[in-house]
Amino acid sequence: MVLIGCGERAKSRVRSAEAYTFMVTDLKIAPSLLAADFADLRGEVAKVSDGADWLHLDVMDGHFVPNISFGIPVIASIRGGTDLYFDCHVMTTNPDTYVTELAGAGVDLITMHIEAIPDPTDPAKKARAAGLDFGLALNPATPFSAVAPFVEICDLLVVMSVEPGYGGQAFIPQVLPKVAEAREWVEERGLGTDIQIDGGITPETAPLAVSAGANVLVAGTSVFGQVDPSAAIAELRRAEETE
Ligand code: DX5
Ligand code: ZN
Repeated sequence: MVLIGCGERAKSRVRSAEAYTFMVTDLKIAPSLLAADFADLRGEVAKVSDGADWLHLDVMDGHFVPNISFGIPVIASIRGGTDLYFDCHVMTTNPDTYVTELAGAGVDLITMHIEAIPDPTDPAKKARAAGLDFGLALNPATPFSAVAPFVEICDLLVVMSVEPGYGGQAFIPQVLPKVAEAREWVEERGLGTDIQIDGGITPETAPLAVSAGANVLVAGTSVFGQVDPSAAIAELRRAEETE
């Protein structure tokens, strides 16, 4: 990743009074299947397979979050239809329980919530032993300090910009300083950790998240909720051009 602040390459964050000014050159778009037509999942995945970088899969248990989505058999059934990197966001009370099964279903990365596993050391080892990349997510109210000691064991940090559980909610801009804090932490240590923002991402909010330091954008409603998901991805990708 190359960060450009005010025209200087690889320079750390420059912040004006109103805005962050990161420029991220390896932006990834991760459509969230939660907003797709569940009656035609293979068809829906096919619509984004060329334009997207990752496919975001929200697994919910009705306990950690007040909603139930889909699980292992559904993920396995769509794996054969695409080569996209499967980014599995596990919103369950015991997120390390199904690591082996999720790996068997074909996910590439498993993200667990720090609120569910205050010490993620062993869950991360379990994920790696199953051949998976590992991510940690933070709810909007959880400070970055909760994950700071564990960033080096993560491939991905996920800053939730809505309360987890449902698609279609409004972006919470108060999480932007946390994105910037995470980005600064990663850059200062020369880590390659991706920083994802999840919830309420639209062509209007995407540039804010990217400027603050996010390089992976999850987007459900603003991709699968659109008539042309492929064009919607291209629109989100324009956030990379933001100064
Ligand atoms: C919410 C999920 C999100 C959700 C995003 O708990 O983690 O990934 O699908 O949906 P939108 O993009 O519609 O806010
Ligand atoms: Zn998610």
